[in-house]
Amino acid sequence: MVAGKRILLGVTGGIAAYKAAYLLREFQKSGAQVRVIMTPSATRFVGTETFSSLSRHEVAVDVFNQENPGNDWTKHIHWGDWADIFVIAPCTANTLAKIVYGQSDNMLTSTLLAARCPILICPTMDGEMYESPAVTENLQKAKELGFYILEPESGYLASGIEAVGRLPEPEKIIEESSKIIGKHSIQGPLTGKQVLVSAGPTREFIDPVRFISNPSTGKMGIAMAEAARLLGGNVTLLHGPVTAEIPDRLKSESFITADELFEQVKAHQDADVIIMAAAVSDFKAAETNNHKVKKEHASLTLELSRNPDILEWLGQNKNPGQILIGFAMETEHLRKHALSKLERKKLDWICANSLSEGGAGFGSDTNKITLLGKQTEEAFTGTKQQVANQILEKIFPE
Ligand code: CTP
Repeated sequence: MVAGKRILLGVTGGIAAYKAAYLLREFQKSGAQVRVIMTPSATRFVGTETFSSLSRHEVAVDVFNQENPGNDWTKHIHWGDWADIFVIAPCTANTLAKIVYGQSDNMLTSTLLAARCPILICPTMDGEMYESPAVTENLQKAKELGFYILEPESGYLASGIEAVGRLPEPEKIIEESSKIIGKHSIQGPLTGKQVLVSAGPTREFIDPVRFISNPSTGKMGIAMAEAARLLGGNVTLLHGPVTAEIPDRLKSESFITADELFEQVKAHQDADVIIMAAAVSDFKAAETNNHKVKKEHASLTLELSRNPDILEWLGQNKNPGQILIGFAMETEHLRKHALSKLERKKLDWICANSLSEGGAGFGSDTNKITLLGKQTEEAFTGTKQQVANQILEKIFPE
């Protein structure tokens, strides 16, 4: 269950902080991606470098970017949105108290308040502390507030005594995290399905400063990815140089050229559902120059060559049961062209998008789309997110 999931690991300042490094490795071995947030006192037990090397990602400690003041201080929002679960292991009595009272005096506690994902607290401390009335009461309050608690185990503690307070083994924490993720994952018609969505324009470079592209912002494709996620799909978004914002909760990979997109699509070709919303350039420069072409040396004719038709290739190499959804953006004869693309590219569905209608097309926040299937035809209007939701609800009813 944790394979492919995103784990935010919060490490607080107790001696068991060193065990969080092993926990991180075990999460990774189970196929999860891990990012680490430490409290300042946790860094006295283990260096941030240990966690950044293991997670291959920066470790967050400060809300404010010390090296680059004023920059990137909203990580607590983004990371909280990115994660499928936030696991605090070990969680000291001090951080537990802050959690219960909603304090946000460091990166970890601020992210806790901002996080939308489930939060698992692994209280770890000395036996007497754990049994103190304040900690007992705080644990009770944390449960009432909806936090998940994994009780510590009994054993030999750093103080030399045998008592309850040890951090459970990584396997146990991973098992518990897995159960919680399962409980919180969206149940819908796409649950358990891999969904691949492409969005945005491609850029085909002529030289380092010039390219062929189109005005796609990626909004509609991103909305399709979000709609698939809301139906329970395990979504991967492939995106070109988009101007629309990509929510951190979406797993994404970027491309620039149609050839790069083609390679990424091939790598995900086994997806159950593929939605090609990218505005792929049909042509690229026949030759690219490594240096800027000076205008006095440039020919006034640009030689082009064809890009692969990725969707057509997908149609020719379709897996049994796979659903292929394409887009057709037209300025005239919308229905006719869309139906011919549906057939030629062997698609299950095509979203016909007219460029000549108001409130639709590139960059607009709203859209008008006619969904065409082999036997179905239905038009949807609204914001791009509403239209995307309606399209996928029609294709994948409950
Ligand atoms: N598409 C693709 N690869 C291309 C061109 C388009 O995968 N080289 C996909 C788009 O992502 C879209 C669908 O094919 O889902 C239709 O794209 P569109 O540009 O409307 O049509 P084309 O097939 O390029 O045909 P034409 O340019 O003649 O309209």
